[in-house]
Amino acid sequence: MEPHTGYGQTVAKIILFGEHAVVYGHPAIALPLTSLRMTADVTPTGGTAQESTLSGLGWTGRLQAAPARFASIARAAEVASAFAGHPDAGLHIATHSDFPPERGLGSSAAAAGAVIRGVLDAFDVPATRQEIFELTQQAETVAHGRPSGLDAVATSADTPVHFQGGQPTDLDYALDAWIVIADSGEEGSTLETVTHVRSRYDADPAATSVVLDRLGAITGEVVDDMRAGDIADMGDRMTEAHHLLAGLGVSDERLDAMVTAAVGAGALGAKLTGGGRGGCVIALAADEDSAHRIEEALVLAGARATWVHAPQPGTFAGEGAR
Ligand code: PMV
Repeated sequence: MEPHTGYGQTVAKIILFGEHAVVYGHPAIALPLTSLRMTADVTPTGGTAQESTLSGLGWTGRLQAAPARFASIARAAEVASAFAGHPDAGLHIATHSDFPPERGLGSSAAAAGAVIRGVLDAFDVPATRQEIFELTQQAETVAHGRPSGLDAVATSADTPVHFQGGQPTDLDYALDAWIVIADSGEEGSTLETVTHVRSRYDADPAATSVVLDRLGAITGEVVDDMRAGDIADMGDRMTEAHHLLAGLGVSDERLDAMVTAAVGAGALGAKLTGGGRGGCVIALAADEDSAHRIEEALVLAGARATWVHAPQPGTFAGEGAR
């Protein structure tokens, strides 16, 4: 078949539980936000890879001249073209994203994953889930040094993902609750907060381990909550996790204020998500009305944007695994 415009799609993700602790071998749970999509249309131009262009995510121009934050997209196009057997193909890549970059929502892995799928589709080259994961990781390595793989998996999943020791497992439990996501408007630096936690750990391993161990235990307890459909319990653990993360020094005033506002407005629980010190807060709501009340409170507390994630159809707690 002749090359044609290929299409790729991925989604945003949040870390529900376990950020930072996952770096120390504890489990984490990430949730794909299937309503917030990243798409890529990839058109082979007949030119060379040098001439490839990108439009979207705030940039229009030659891919090779794009700012550093697009390095993972350039690398995604390169590794996927090579995989497809067209290493020097010129491409026009057009992306569209429903969510902002640099907020812990997985934008860079989502963009890389969408572009990789678009390239493979353009050349009609099939790939397994594992092959696409490996290509995405190659692209992410440019952006993040040593990515855990959590983002690469979660941005192409449709049920929550459990992640430990570099190994993802699908939880196969839908979350029977509403989640409100609120953007602080501040870019978070995951590298900075991961480095901060590392220096605390090095300075006082015993005290820091107590906190990390509890964060890890919370993730384990939440797996049971999800299985049992106990969202009230999960909410309590969410707020506890926020306070533990704040104690590690990865929260900030605005994130704390948003968590307090969400809980004050009836959230079952709330916490920062991802690296922290900027980025987003998530709050758990029992129903849609409550989710919208929490959303309003979060805006009053300084959120620049909010999204409401509805429970996904599928296997709900109590019905067993798919
Ligand atoms: O900011 P995000 O969503 O990329 O999440 C970072 C999660 C950390 O646990 C803080 C770091 C990591 O590599 O797992």
